[in-house]
Formats: sequence, structure tokens, C-alpha cells
Amino acid sequence: MHSVQIAPTIQCADQLNLAADIEELVKGGADIIHADIMDGVFVPNLAISFDTVRAVKKRFQIPVDVHLMLKDPGLYIETAIGTGADWISFHIEAAAAPLRLLRQIRESGRKAGIVLNPSTPVTSVRHLLQYAGYVQLMAVEPGFPGQCFLPFTYEKVSELAYERDKHEYSFQIMIDGGINRVNGAECIRRGADILVAGALCIFGEGHDLCRETACFAKEMKELRK
Ligand code: DX5
Ligand code: ZN
Repeated sequence: MHSVQIAPTIQCADQLNLAADIEELVKGGADIIHADIMDGVFVPNLAISFDTVRAVKKRFQIPVDVHLMLKDPGLYIETAIGTGADWISFHIEAAAAPLRLLRQIRESGRKAGIVLNPSTPVTSVRHLLQYAGYVQLMAVEPGFPGQCFLPFTYEKVSELAYERDKHEYSFQIMIDGGINRVNGAECIRRGADILVAGALCIFGEGHDLCRETACFAKEMKELRK
């Protein structure tokens, strides 16, 4: 059984004070920094750049997870590896040759993840699960923070956890989008290991980022002890 990890998304951080916010997240006990990389095509937005990821890796020790929301992720894997990112995931809906991408990421010594949009069934990646270091379920349509968690995600978490147990696979389950204390706890009970923490749990106007991160992490980690 994996331990519970918290991955704050820096898309929700103060972009003019990013380094200060990351320091607070680290002090608060964040396990991983989640960086959303978009191309304005696969999703109608732009978020964190590869250059920013490179700068974060240069300054901080904490592992960085790069979530590629790109139309053709194969074109960017090498660049993602070059940033120093520790975890790299791509959307199954966008990948023509997912096995090749998973192998490329793994061979670079990084953890390789597959991401599923809300409407993509778990069965569509059944045969790829054995090659993944983590599987990330989107609980909102990707692109924008602050959206409501889609409740049918729960069933997908259970389904994925069932497949993992049945075949004794080792991948971690990450949930991204609309996470708060209530739905985060339910995802963990159903087998999720990593929660992406965004606008509805730790970030917010006037929030003490360090304190919010510490409280959220403590509450979620206590569910699996
Ligand atoms: C959604 C991104 C998420 C997002 C999460 O497109 O992949 O990582 O920033 O933010 P919240 O938790 O606010 O939905
Ligand atoms: Zn994300």
C-alpha cells in the first residue's frame, strides 16, 4: 500500500510570488509540486511553462510532477525530461503511441504517468497499467482550476484500485481537479494515493499557504495509517 501524498498545483499559486509560495508549500509538507503544462489546443488555456519548471527544479529539492495537457505529447517528452522534472504524465486521449512514451519517460529515470479525462473509461488503459508508474484521473475537464469535482470519479478510482489489486500492479493513483477535504478523503478511502491540491482546498485569497497545506496533508495522511 502506498502512503498518501499531497501535490499542490502551482497553477493556483501567486504567479508574481511563485518562489515564495513554493517555499510555503514545502514548509507546509507538500510531497510533490504539480505543474500543469498546456498548449492552448488540447485545452483552451496556457499555464506553467517548461522554463518555469526548470527554474523550480534549480531552486528547490522537492520532486516536480509535470502534467502535459498537449495535443501531441510525443513532441515534448524530451523537453519535459530536460527540465529535470521527476514525474511526467501525458493524456491517453492525445497519445498515438503511449507505450513508446511511457518507455521513453521510464528510461530517463523519471516516473511515467498516464492521465485520463473524465469521460475516458478506465478499461481503455487496462493493458497499459502494468507499464505506468502512476495513473492520474481527471475529476474535472482539464484546463482551469476551481471547477467542481465530478462525483462519477469515485467509481473510476474504485475500478482502478480493483485492477491494481487483482493484477498486483504497483502504480500510484493520482486525482486531479476540484479536490477538497470531503472528496479527497473519499478518493483515498477508495484507493487513491496522491491528491492534487488546488483552488478548493489550500489556495485562496488570504490563505496561509503553509498552514493550509499542513492541515490538509495531516488530515488526508491520517486516513491511511
Ligand atoms: C486542471 C489542472 C489541475 C488544476 C487543479 O486543468 O490539471 O491541476 O489546476 O486545480 P483545482 O484543484 O482548483 O481544480
Ligand atoms: Zn493537473
